[in-house]
Amino acid sequence: KTYRIASIPGDGIGVEIIKQTIRVLKRLEELLGTFNIEFHNYDWSSERYQNTGEYIPTGGLESLKNHDAILFGAVGSVDVADHISLWGLILPIRKMLGQYVNVRPIRILPGLSSPLKDCSIEDLDWVMIRENSEGEYAGQGGITHEGTEYAIANDVAVFTRQGIERTMRFAFEIALSRPRKHLTMVTKSNAQRHGMVLWDKVFHELAPHYPEVKTDKMLVDAMTVRMVLKPRSLDTIVATNLHGDILSDLAAALAGSIGVAPSSNLNPTRQFPSMFEPIHGSAPDIAGLGVANPVGTFWCAAEMLAWMGETKARSSLMKAIECVCAAGVRTKDIQGTSNTFEVTEAVIRALEKE
Ligand code: NAI
Ligand code: MG
Repeated sequence: KTYRIASIPGDGIGVEIIKQTIRVLKRLEELLGTFNIEFHNYDWSSERYQNTGEYIPTGGLESLKNHDAILFGAVGSVDVADHISLWGLILPIRKMLGQYVNVRPIRILPGLSSPLKDCSIEDLDWVMIRENSEGEYAGQGGITHEGTEYAIANDVAVFTRQGIERTMRFAFEIALSRPRKHLTMVTKSNAQRHGMVLWDKVFHELAPHYPEVKTDKMLVDAMTVRMVLKPRSLDTIVATNLHGDILSDLAAALAGSIGVAPSSNLNPTRQFPSMFEPIHGSAPDIAGLGVANPVGTFWCAAEMLAWMGETKARSSLMKAIECVCAAGVRTKDIQGTSNTFEVTEAVIRALEKE
């Protein structure tokens, strides 16, 4: 079987880690010999935007549809305002390709340590499901009296029953597939009295359809405390676009580093390809130094393989990543001294030894 993968490195460290991830995938393909991967590179970046005025050229989204999956690095540059770059590249892909859930597994990889006191590998093993198409990132709103002292800006969070329900069903299914079968829903339905109240309502309606899943609800502010003080009490988590975005950075830090955390932007209907990207951004502070942690993107590649049905390839890659982390070949953000290339080489060697 041949898979067609669109790679979009984007900006900053995105370019460095996607390059290394492709090397790892190519070696894995050779070693297993059970599938082929064809990479199609898309140079959609902030540099391109500065030269041409657009991130995605005309017809670009259509051409992405001719792939089995998309591997994405990061977008964001000090030369372009962040809302322009995000809305120019990543958000249109998520929205136009129907990638309505964002799945973020979080656990402490072997050899890594949590900044939390006495937090072992068993204490922190979560999957965060983030609504990925609407809510606070609906993009609606505007500004009136712009440029005056009377400026008023609105960002309208749009929640639809259909959007909430499909995300929550997905979350219940994930919870059901995990040993602890526990789903926590996060909102701020005390202060935001329309959309978040609809989240509560849909959650209560769906829960009886999943009698094996234990459920509870948290307000997002209290949730941050629970994540830090009682990590073991959590398992599967479902949250809105904004809350899921924020909580997953916190979760990643609690599991060791933002540099190791993967995310899958899934189109569960499989009508269009899904996109796999690390949760971190383009990290301008370390871009070009060759020291970015590639592990989050390697983990994304493993999730991508699994989504395409290559579960054996996923386990080989995860095993190699875990073996390298445990052996101490790590970047600085996870208390190591190796650079991006050295970690990649170590992962390739580990694959060869399997
Ligand atoms: P960031 O995630 O890029 O960086 C935050 C901190 O974590 C920095 O100190 C960075 O050096 C470190 N870090 C991130 N990834 C790392 C890795 N793989 N290895 C080692 N250290 C790592 O977030 P920040 O600084 O808020 O945003 C920078 C740019 O990225 C902005 O333009 C922002 O809009 C964009 N961004 C893009 C995202 C995307 O493409 N999906 C997601 C988040 C931010
Ligand atoms: Mg984020």
